[in-house]
Amino acid sequence: MAYLLSKNLHLQAIILSTFILLLSSSNHGTNAQSVPPSSTRLTSLFPHLSFDRDYSQMFGDSNAQIYGNGSFAKISLDKKTGAGFGSKNHYNYGFFSAAIKLPPGFTSGVVVAFYMSNSDIFPHNHDEIDFELLGHQKSRNWVLQTNMYGNGSVKTGREEKFRLWFDPTTQFHEYSIIWNSHHIVFLVDNIPIREVQKTPTTSSSYPSKPMAVYATIWDASPWATHGGKYPVNYKYAPFTASLGEMEMAGCIYDPKDLSGKSCSKSSSPSSLDPLEGQDFVKLSNQQNKGLQWARSKQMIYSYCKDKRRYKVLPPECTTK
Ligand SMILES: *[C@@H]1O[C@H](CO)[C@@H](O)[C@H](O)[C@H]1NC(C)=O
Ligand SMILES: *[C@@H]1O[C@H](CO)[C@@H](O)[C@H](O)[C@H]1NC(C)=O
Repeated sequence: MAYLLSKNLHLQAIILSTFILLLSSSNHGTNAQSVPPSSTRLTSLFPHLSFDRDYSQMFGDSNAQIYGNGSFAKISLDKKTGAGFGSKNHYNYGFFSAAIKLPPGFTSGVVVAFYMSNSDIFPHNHDEIDFELLGHQKSRNWVLQTNMYGNGSVKTGREEKFRLWFDPTTQFHEYSIIWNSHHIVFLVDNIPIREVQKTPTTSSSYPSKPMAVYATIWDASPWATHGGKYPVNYKYAPFTASLGEMEMAGCIYDPKDLSGKSCSKSSSPSSLDPLEGQDFVKLSNQQNKGLQWARSKQMIYSYCKDKRRYKVLPPECTTK
């Protein structure tokens, strides 16, 4: 199992996260309305990985650049190409995170995506879990979209859109995914913004096969900004996103075992086990408060409310 870490590291992470909490709480007076409730820093539990060692460049030639001894990368979109990295391993459940700083200025039509997919192995019934950051014709107005597909359920988009409560272009912010047999949770700076529980209703569209992890920037002019009204304006290129603090912890998939069952469940899961550990199978009360905050204050679109698009809403929208 790839995620077993020493107790010592766990302790260090707790001390560090307490320190960061103290630091960040001192800044919170400035804009009280848009401040989320504090939340467990899951991102502090896992080591940061290296772009040299753990990822490969997928496309983009010199528009993808690694720096800081493998800890950081820049990906750019210009007239010629976007760029992206993909993880060398596939994972069957785990915790996945990236710190991202988005391009400033006019970014209509630009998409920066941090996502998981297995369309390379299962082209006809692929799974996908997406963060997509959608550029805007004005600065400071990026929209965060989350989406998922399970077993080729591409006819049903399950998009939700959120306003961010910070300027995503001036500093790195953390975008994380918990994905296990209990639920999928999207987190931004450790605040859960969306939870999809695995239930009998959702199981046929629940991502359940091994996926790789990707970070990309590309031209999504036809749909990204106001449904395609504002395409990429290359007068403002290159558009450059910075990536760091890459974390992937979970069950590394054995490519010879297509069933994806190659990771045995640990009988006594540690608190660092993203598959069965108590911090990962269920949201805490504190995390649920964060989730409620994000959904009541920051969410601007949910497919579950889109009756124009779905005459019959997907089943998980009506049973709860
Ligand atoms: C750079 O990373 C390698 C392993 O990825 C490590 O062995 C080396 O000490 C690092 N160098 C610096 C200056 O951090
Ligand atoms: C996924 O799709 C394949 C092929 O369409 C099908 O055989 C399989 O039963 C599906 N699995 C689930 C869990 O629905």
